Amino acid sequence: MVTSDSPSTLFTPMQLGPLTLGHRVVMAPMTRQRAEQPSAVPGDLPLEYYGQRASDGGLIISEAIAVSRLGHGGYGSPGLWNDDQVAGWKRITDAVHAKGGVIYAQLWHTGRRSHVTTSFQTPVGPSLDPSFWANPANTVSTEQGYAPVSPHRALELDEIPAVVEEFGLAARNAAAAGFDGVELHAAYGFLLDQFLQDGSNRRTDRYGGSLDNRIRLLMEVVDAVSAVRGADRVAVRISPSSTFNDIHDSDPHALFAHVVAALDGVGLAYLHVIEPRVSGFTLVDADAGAVASQELRKSFTGTMIAAGGFEPDTAAAAISAGNGADLIAFARHFVSNPDLPDRIARGLPLSPYDRDTFYTPLQAHGYVDYLPFDAADAAVTA
Ligand SMILES: Cc1cc2nc3c(=O)[nH]c(=O)nc-3n(C[C@H](O)[C@H](O)[C@H](O)COP(=O)(O)O)c2cc1C
Repeated sequence: MVTSDSPSTLFTPMQLGPLTLGHRVVMAPMTRQRAEQPSAVPGDLPLEYYGQRASDGGLIISEAIAVSRLGHGGYGSPGLWNDDQVAGWKRITDAVHAKGGVIYAQLWHTGRRSHVTTSFQTPVGPSLDPSFWANPANTVSTEQGYAPVSPHRALELDEIPAVVEEFGLAARNAAAAGFDGVELHAAYGFLLDQFLQDGSNRRTDRYGGSLDNRIRLLMEVVDAVSAVRGADRVAVRISPSSTFNDIHDSDPHALFAHVVAALDGVGLAYLHVIEPRVSGFTLVDADAGAVASQELRKSFTGTMIAAGGFEPDTAAAAISAGNGADLIAFARHFVSNPDLPDRIARGLPLSPYDRDTFYTPLQAHGYVDYLPFDAADAAVTA
């Protein structure tokens, strides 16, 4: 019998723009810091990692990929601004496609959450905010380990078109690298989110102040990347309730209702919403008034992915409820269960993840040595 939260509800096909997915278990974007440095080229380790996690008809969203050197705010992260990086990613998308999978590139500009040793220049944000680098909680990974973020400067008005073009170039590179589409990282307090929220955006020009002005950069970037292959291969990720990277807004309900209403007319492949119950990737007690995917669903008619603290049963229940997300993204469970869709489908136990190896640059352990269930089982019983 199929009950309302039976995993079978996760294993029905779904249209994603022009592509058909075989199931609803999505791999969420995860920075793992295994790209070569300073080239920011993904090499053999990420090739093995993504290949292990590909499934027939399953969507993988890549780790955040920097659109430019200036937007590269974290040691070990990959890029998509040059041909070597395109070639590195092409091997990965080929491996995913060979298993029948679909893969989107998450395009990232870290903005003020950065370090001069990874961006090679003074990081930029919407506005000058010395309190950001004065806060010891705001750290970033460098070759020497985590360090306080570098002081940033405010982007000049005449520099903004170049930022938009960097996203456009990265989208063209993503297409050349064989990605099926791109997801814009407008979440977790990185550049696009820094422009959205009035805690970080104090601009007085056409990119600050009113809601229309604060969503302008995101919408210009959406247009630029949609021009590459069409909006139905473009997605946007938002985290309306996250305070990660010191991000906050005086009225998140109004802001994100406005963002979602503007995006609804574009014909995106999907909108990706991080639920309030996670901050970064730590489970928290959601504030009852926080902005959740069900609230945004009311003003978004397209495909929606929800992420954040899901287990197989709660994911199935969320899909069955039919009043929120169409697909569910899992992050941490995918770290330690490369065959996560298969385990969920078969009701198999999930392996625990080790946080200590989430972010260990170029280290194989904790990255490619988690086994699929059957191989792990055979190793135990051998
Ligand atoms: C190791 C790790 C790296 C992450 N990196 C990214 C990232 O690059 N981009 C992003 O949007 N979210 C990133 N996240 C957040 C996840 O995509 C997800 O929103 C969050 O972990 C909650 O999902 P979960 O409860 O299934 O882990 C990361 C999470 C983890 C655990």
